[in-house]
Amino acid sequence: MKVAVMGYGTIGSGVVEVLDINRNSITKRAGEEIDVKYILDLRDFPGDPIQEKVVHDYKTIVDDPEVKIVVETMGGVEPAYTFVKAMLEAGKHVTTSNKALVAAKGAELIALAKEKNVNFMFEASVGGGIPIIRPLNSCLTADEIEEITGIVNGTTNYMLTKMSEEGLEFDDVLKDAQAKGYAEKDPTADIEGYDACRKIAILTSLVCGQQVDFEDIHTEGITKITATDIRYAKAMGRAIKLLASSRKVGDGYVAMVAPFLLPSSHPLYSVNDVFNAIFVHGNVLGDAMFYGSGAGKLPTASAVVADIVDIAKHQEVNIAVEWSSKKLELVDCGNMENRYFVRTTADQKDVRRVFGEAEYVSAEGVSGECGFITARMSEAEYQKKAAELGNVIQMIRVG
Ligand code: HSE
Repeated sequence: MKVAVMGYGTIGSGVVEVLDINRNSITKRAGEEIDVKYILDLRDFPGDPIQEKVVHDYKTIVDDPEVKIVVETMGGVEPAYTFVKAMLEAGKHVTTSNKALVAAKGAELIALAKEKNVNFMFEASVGGGIPIIRPLNSCLTADEIEEITGIVNGTTNYMLTKMSEEGLEFDDVLKDAQAKGYAEKDPTADIEGYDACRKIAILTSLVCGQQVDFEDIHTEGITKITATDIRYAKAMGRAIKLLASSRKVGDGYVAMVAPFLLPSSHPLYSVNDVFNAIFVHGNVLGDAMFYGSGAGKLPTASAVVADIVDIAKHQEVNIAVEWSSKKLELVDCGNMENRYFVRTTADQKDVRRVFGEAEYVSAEGVSGECGFITARMSEAEYQKKAAELGNVIQMIRVG
């Protein structure tokens, strides 16, 4: 079985490495040997054992009928979309780790794969090495999934863990994460929640079988979280986690990415460092949680290679994926109900006047402000009351 890898960066080189490390067991499971015939990259890799396989024109792969499976690990929507589309049109199976591509073009590429009787697989696009796409697509099909909530970004989870353990400010932790290679030089996609947003868009699309546009998902990152917020969280016995969540509300879904204050009883409370976890609640299943290495070279490559093996076993069959291009209009998250932890320079008298009964919180070493948790109310109602109170320093939703 000849395979081509498009993009020889961290994940692409990981795929080549995994195919090598576990060659024997992979051959047994796939039913035949998997060989990398081409590596598409802009660069050459002199001295690298794969240097002879490097090509610079994707059409070399398109035009080679011997290549049956193409791995896309380039990242970004273009040119990945053009290349992947051409591969599917040429009757080749594709597996990708690229969440930007899957979130933007998933429905279209799934439909094209079906038309061509090949497979478009994307297990590695959410949760790195954690199985979540295949479970949603095949193991949990007896359920109506009522909630899916995950810590799906390793970079921000590492940063929040570090802030919590060491009492550090955001900027210092970001520098540390960059030094360790957990955060990119331009960390925007991770710290602003854009990466998590694309991942929950993919999961929600799979859960509801329709196209969920990531642009429609209310997204907040962690850039405004401070060491003082962490102090309050500790005083409450809670942890601040960046959650990507979608819930069934009536016949619709509401989705959001934002930091939440989780109690120690919450299944995602103890998910620390770069680990990811995805909590799923099904109407007949009840609760399930998928936990593990959500990013990084080999864990992500493990999921890509598992797709290759699955494809090798289903060369003549299109495995149906329920994800139509019909757009799902998400329920306005203004209707979503939560409790809210608020920090304000207003006094308790004003808080009582505007919010009524509230639970007041004080944190060690913090003065000159008032911290409180509101009663349960909709986002819209909270926004109205917060505007009336004024002087709000911070608001974090309480999970
Ligand atoms: N930057 C991402 C993360 C990589 O930290 O989770 C995996 O998508």
